[in-house]
Amino acid sequence: MLDTTKIMDNSFAADVLMGLAASQKTIPCRWLYDTRGSELFEDITGLPEYYPTRTETKILQARADAIARLAGDGAQLIEYGAGASVKTRLLLDAMAGLHAYVPIDVSASFLAETARQLACDYPDLNIVPVVGDFLSPIELPALGAAGRKVGFFPGSTIGNLSDAEIADFFARARQDLGTGALFVLGADLKKDEAILIPAYDDAAGVTARFNLNLLRRINRELGATFELDWFSHEARWNEVCSRVEMHLVSLRDQTAHVCGKRVDFAAGETIHTENSRKFAAGELSKLAAKQSWRTQETWTDEDGLFSVMVLEAG
Ligand code: AVJ
Repeated sequence: MLDTTKIMDNSFAADVLMGLAASQKTIPCRWLYDTRGSELFEDITGLPEYYPTRTETKILQARADAIARLAGDGAQLIEYGAGASVKTRLLLDAMAGLHAYVPIDVSASFLAETARQLACDYPDLNIVPVVGDFLSPIELPALGAAGRKVGFFPGSTIGNLSDAEIADFFARARQDLGTGALFVLGADLKKDEAILIPAYDDAAGVTARFNLNLLRRINRELGATFELDWFSHEARWNEVCSRVEMHLVSLRDQTAHVCGKRVDFAAGETIHTENSRKFAAGELSKLAAKQSWRTQETWTDEDGLFSVMVLEAG
């Protein structure tokens, strides 16, 4: 995932201080991904309980040729929050007539590494990395007369966003990608808690380490005094909002200091660190339609765990 270490240094402090001052303490989930956090997330994607990555990969494997056909010759593939991932390569392999690949990421160093690796394996591919945050306006490069622009946003990262942020994201992508564009979107689906909770609270404790790493990062980068043994990881199903929430639960009354500010915790109080929404059938199509994206395809695996949608700019 993204390495956000090198950007927005003081917005990290600002986000943490503001989030910890709220009555429900909260820290935006993007701060989970420092170098260690990104490694731990990679480990999560291979866990037996974490079905999304392997399920989405299977769907893309089965549908890559169909996506390539829809995209047509001379298309540009534009990946939001890009990685040199297995999923990207599935599309690159299928899209023989691709004009350019445009990975967008907040980390310039991560992008450079991605581009370098892909350039080795796809020597004829025009790779044009763009540094940017997919939640802000992005200046896409003018790449000359080409075919369709095809946005790609895998991993159900869209599930981290609120309805308002999803509306913003779709509206901006619609504007950036333009008329005739396609958008290939991975979205996790609503399902039984008995499957969801273990996916976010695995037996090996990797997700717990991923969540607690946030406190470690705050201690290191902001000189804070969190006692890691006095917090524990919790994955919670919120039925009303249809999302899995990650929390860090304070195991006792305690006080920590962050940037010289005192932060008190009651026993049982939590820091809310992530939302991972699980979409009902048709839900994302409706949100997309409001921003002029028409749903062309919705593909799922045979167990109905995960979906890959193809949207077309209307
Ligand atoms: C990368 C945001 C899609 O929500 O499933 C995995 C992050 N958090 N386990 C997800 C995550 C805990 C993941 N996303």
